Order: sequence, then C-alpha cells, then structure tokens
Amino acid sequence: MIYIKTLIISGSPRKKGDSMTLINEMIYLNGEVKIIETYYDNISPCLDCRYCWENEGCSIDDEMQEIYKLLDEVDNIILASPLYFSELSGELLSFASRLQTFFVARCIRKEVDFELKEKNGVLILTGGGDGSPDDAIRRANIIFRHINVKPIGKVLSLNTNKKSANQDAQALNRVKELALNLNELNKAN
Ligand SMILES: Cc1cc2nc3c(=O)[nH]c(=O)nc-3n(C[C@H](O)[C@H](O)[C@H](O)COP(=O)(O)O)c2cc1C
Repeated sequence: MIYIKTLIISGSPRKKGDSMTLINEMIYLNGEVKIIETYYDNISPCLDCRYCWENEGCSIDDEMQEIYKLLDEVDNIILASPLYFSELSGELLSFASRLQTFFVARCIRKEVDFELKEKNGVLILTGGGDGSPDDAIRRANIIFRHINVKPIGKVLSLNTNKKSANQDAQALNRVKELALNLNELNKAN
C-alpha cells in the first residue's frame, strides 16, 4: 500500500502556471504526495441533495470518495489557488462544497465527537495584481477548519502579471522553507 502523506489541492486551470510552479517547489516534502487538480479531476460540486443529513458520507460516486478517505489519513494539506476576483478560484470552491458533509455530521446529524485526523496545512496564493488576498485567505481558513487542518504558513506570489512565480525567489524560498517545516512537524508526531 502506498502511504500518501501530503494531499495538494490545486485550484488553477494552468498546468504550468504560477500556482503549479510553487506547488512543484514542494518537492522537498518527505513521503508520497498526491495532487488533485480541481479543474481536471472527476469531482462534482455538492448538489445539496441532503443525503448526508441522514447518512455518513456523500451520495455522489466520483473521485471525491477516495479523497474523503485521504482527508482522514494524510499528514499535510496544501491548498493552492490563483486569486479570481480576489477569491479562491471557482473550481476550488466547488471542490470545497463537497466538504459540507463534514459540517453536516457535526452540526445537523449532531455527531458532536465527529472529527477528522488533525493535519498541518499550507496555503499558496498567486495573483496577477497587487490587490488584497484577505478574502481568499479567510475562505481558505474556513476550508482548513472543515477538515481539521492547522495552518502553519502561507506563500503569496502577487503581481504575477509583471513577474511570474518562477521569478519570485522569495515565494519559491518560502515554499521550500514550509515544506521542510512540514517534514520536521511530521517527525515530531
Ligand atoms: C477570471 C480571472 C480573475 C482574476 N482575478 C484576479 C484578482 O482578483 N486579483 C489578482 O491579483 N489577480 C487576478 N487574476 C490573475 C491571476 O490570479 C494570476 O494570473 C495568477 O498568477 C494565475 O495563477 P495560475 O497561473 O496558477 O493560474 C485573475 C485571473 C483570471 C483568469
């Protein structure tokens, strides 16, 4: 069995874009890494069918079923997104809608002890301009809370219209630093 330690969730449609450039700098991470590309993987949005109001899990039979298991197994979660209208990208939010089942377990089905494994998290945000990433950071923190992730740091590469992420030495170094931090934190556990 392959033990996946890190799940990277990418909200960018650009396979060689700024977010993916920074994701690729995560090569310093120990262990197996799985990348979910929300624009290309077979993951539907939540349809609010309310199956999870009565049952564990989710009624939609797609790739998310495997990801639900990983969300309770991995040690690290990396969330990466371009800023779209100062927010996380639409496909990343669509992916996040499928995490509603965890909220429902606690707040609708009243399984007060329901909790996924605690994980460490890193947020990577890229943006073409120099507008505020605060809304996207807030949304990412909500996603992290839904899946019991403790954020340990974030990387911002802004102004990519002028200087792409692969020329942003500060952001590239910060990704490496955070990858090494995650390795240390995992050792301690
Ligand atoms: C639909 C759309 C909306 C965007 N909105 C913003 C924005 O609000 N703020 C910003 O800084 N950049 C914005 N951008 C630019 C991207 O965030 C930027 O090019 C980013 O570096 C792309 O990352 P990627 O290559 O990982 O996809 C937008 C781009 C698109 C296509």
